[in-house]
Amino acid sequence: MVEALSPLLPLNDGNRMPQLGLGVYKTTDDEAADAVDSALRQGYRLVDTAAMYLNEAGVGEGVRRSGLPREEVFVTTKVWFTDNGYDSTLRSFSESLDRLGLDYVDLYLIHWPAPKNDLYVPTWQALRTIRDEGRARSIGVANFHPAHVSRLIDETGEAPAVNQVELHPWLPQRELRAFDADHGIVTQAWSPLARGQLLDDGPIAAIARKHGKSPAQIILRWHIQLGIAVIPKSVTPARIRQNIEVFDFELDDDDLAVIASLESGMRTGVDPDDRN
Ligand SMILES: NC(=O)c1ccc[n+]([C@@H]2O[C@H](COP(=O)([O-])OP(=O)(O)OC[C@H]3O[C@@H](n4cnc5c(N)ncnc54)[C@H](OP(=O)(O)O)[C@@H]3O)[C@@H](O)[C@H]2O)c1
Repeated sequence: MVEALSPLLPLNDGNRMPQLGLGVYKTTDDEAADAVDSALRQGYRLVDTAAMYLNEAGVGEGVRRSGLPREEVFVTTKVWFTDNGYDSTLRSFSESLDRLGLDYVDLYLIHWPAPKNDLYVPTWQALRTIRDEGRARSIGVANFHPAHVSRLIDETGEAPAVNQVELHPWLPQRELRAFDADHGIVTQAWSPLARGQLLDDGPIAAIARKHGKSPAQIILRWHIQLGIAVIPKSVTPARIRQNIEVFDFELDDDDLAVIASLESGMRTGVDPDDRN
């Protein structure tokens, strides 16, 4: 068992979260169990799943198979937007815990605000209840624009601990990161590799050659140097290992300027305002 490799980021509720963890979107239960077990044995301590991924059972199995004590692993799951609403979120959360086979999760997120349904405020109230009951240690959101977060704060007086959004060199989310930082919210990047599409980018490959690293490592190191959290997905043990070996080198100002020039606003997913 390799020791924990990722630094921890402080959350606004006093808890701490590994800066880099494993994503498991688009994996079956069996693939997720193997990937989680492999990642935990290789020094990861955070796993990101969701009710919608249909692999929470596999994630729980992987955590148990690793043999790590429960308190050493940070498990995130999310309520899918069709379950937004107070009662439906409480019900969905209990089902997630059952599938995971855990007594609590470390972080529970609203997966999408689905603003046209206008149920994200009662969903947030349900997350606060779950947290107050001790069944989620921290609570947060995903895919929330600053306006959605502002409304949560205005109506409940509580800011999320984390906002998990699509974020990579094509979509660096400057304004959202500044807003999150101003409100003590940790930004966490999903699809950090743009689902693999960024890896063939010429300038990234050149920086990789300069540092003797892979393109994926260059991009993930960029996320780390932004000071945000990041959850690359891989089911391939060698890539899982490679993706967390990003704490032994630094990108310089020239590298950062090249990466900044790649911004195009391109998303791999939908704009949160359009998902209902
Ligand atoms: N909150 C949300 O709405 C939301 C949305 C999307 C994703 N997420 C979370 O964020 C996680 C990451 O996002 P993502 O899965 O969309 O995409 P991603 O992490 O940007 O990319 C994953 C893809 O890159 C490949 N890959 C990973 N490491 C690599 C490496 N070192 N070299 C070459 N290829 C590599 C993977 O292949 P293999 O697996 O075949 O190795 C996979 O095809 C998800 O798994 C999920 O947990 C959240």
